[in-house]
Amino acid sequence: MTDRALVLHPDLLQPGLQPSLRAPEARLQEAAGLAEAIGLVVEHAEVAPVKQVRPATLIGGGLVERLAEAIADSHIDVVIVDSALTPVQQRNLERAWQCKVIDRTGLILEIFGARARTKEGKLQVELAALSYQRSRLVRSWTHLERQRGGVGFMGGPGESQLEIDRRLITERITRLKKELKQVQRTRGLHRGARQRVPYPVVAFVGYTNAGKSTLFNRLTEAKVLARDQLFATLDPTMRRVVLPSGQTVILSDTVGFISDLPTDLIAAFRATLEEVLEADLILHVRDIAHPDSRAQEADVRAVLGDLGVTENATHLLEVLNKADLLGPQDRARLALRDAGLPQAVLCSALTGEGCDQVLAMIDQALSARRVERSLRLPLSQGAALSWLYEHAEVLERRDDGLMTRLTVKIGQPDLDRYLKLFPELAEKEAEAAEGSSGHSAITGNQLHSG
Ligand code: GTP
Repeated sequence: MTDRALVLHPDLLQPGLQPSLRAPEARLQEAAGLAEAIGLVVEHAEVAPVKQVRPATLIGGGLVERLAEAIADSHIDVVIVDSALTPVQQRNLERAWQCKVIDRTGLILEIFGARARTKEGKLQVELAALSYQRSRLVRSWTHLERQRGGVGFMGGPGESQLEIDRRLITERITRLKKELKQVQRTRGLHRGARQRVPYPVVAFVGYTNAGKSTLFNRLTEAKVLARDQLFATLDPTMRRVVLPSGQTVILSDTVGFISDLPTDLIAAFRATLEEVLEADLILHVRDIAHPDSRAQEADVRAVLGDLGVTENATHLLEVLNKADLLGPQDRARLALRDAGLPQAVLCSALTGEGCDQVLAMIDQALSARRVERSLRLPLSQGAALSWLYEHAEVLERRDDGLMTRLTVKIGQPDLDRYLKLFPELAEKEAEAAEGSSGHSAITGNQLHSG
């Protein structure tokens, strides 16, 4: 059994209210997309201009009546009001329409609940959902719960939910917070482990539905969940990929961004984003064909800015995805723009166009962050040699009897790692440096760094 939904986007036209950056139709479409992402069948969707907010129902009485008929005629099970509703408004609308009503916060909670995969993500979502419930003690939405076999935060015994008293919810919140602290401690441990990941990490970020998972799959040829669904990825996934230069990197897919995120959910969302801060490169994937592409970009950049990643950070790259949907004029316009943006590539994760350039851009950006070194080692040191081939870009190799000299481009952290892994070679390098004024020999200083 599938739920039939009606999606309403109230366009608040009140004087004094900041007009939204996005067109109301696009916002309606996004809300409908979110509804479909949780398995609802959208029977009807419309924008409702609201000149004056009515405290009892948000939208006007005439519209409430007109929709009541449509809802009855089309056997609608749930109405999504893409705005924040007060508990009273929600209750009044449910009464007038004789069906379940959820607002934007409720909708996003449903999505997060269905998508959260890590323990911490789930706890954060449950916490947010409980705080939301505490403020309204709404009846749970049991059929959705059964349908998706989700985490169960909004499920439960229907009407009896109403009898759960605030005290119980508060107790549960306290317990959850404790559990979260515990989980966050372990996350710290996991992060320590990740810092020992032997390759540079490239984190994908982007607005929901921009095509991150599709690009991730295309580049790694992996089978990561990619559907026409928003939030197909709430928790990061990591995959190894070898770049054209031979450099191995880890690509990390993260959760999609969304505008007007309910405040209570920001913590859950950020928990997944902290990984981004540890990445060597951040790849901002954009849906360049979307009418709200600019506004989406601004949203993502604002969140990144809050996390301390500035506009012109050298490790921030841009991928302009869905090029296949662009007409020749748009392409020409973008080509001009690209000229001033060396750190951006136009591609289509769907057709594969431009994907090689994405890898090349990653390669280039990493290589710009590397230093050139000349290293001398015995040919018998097979392990050290193959380590260098795997972790550095070998520019030149000169074998001389039993010895070889490699000119490599290598990241400083990798260089430190190499010297630690092969201490006897590090000593030789140090001796060589003392005995010569070779421009590229390693200095004692570098040997002791890290
Ligand atoms: P979230 O997990 O919600 O953050 O989404 P995402 O950014 O990972 O998007 P995903 O890869 O799931 O793609 C969303 C939709 O866009 C899917 O229907 C894809 O098939 C489609 N898509 C992705 N890349 C392209 C592209 O280059 N061209 C076109 N036409 N569609 C694309």
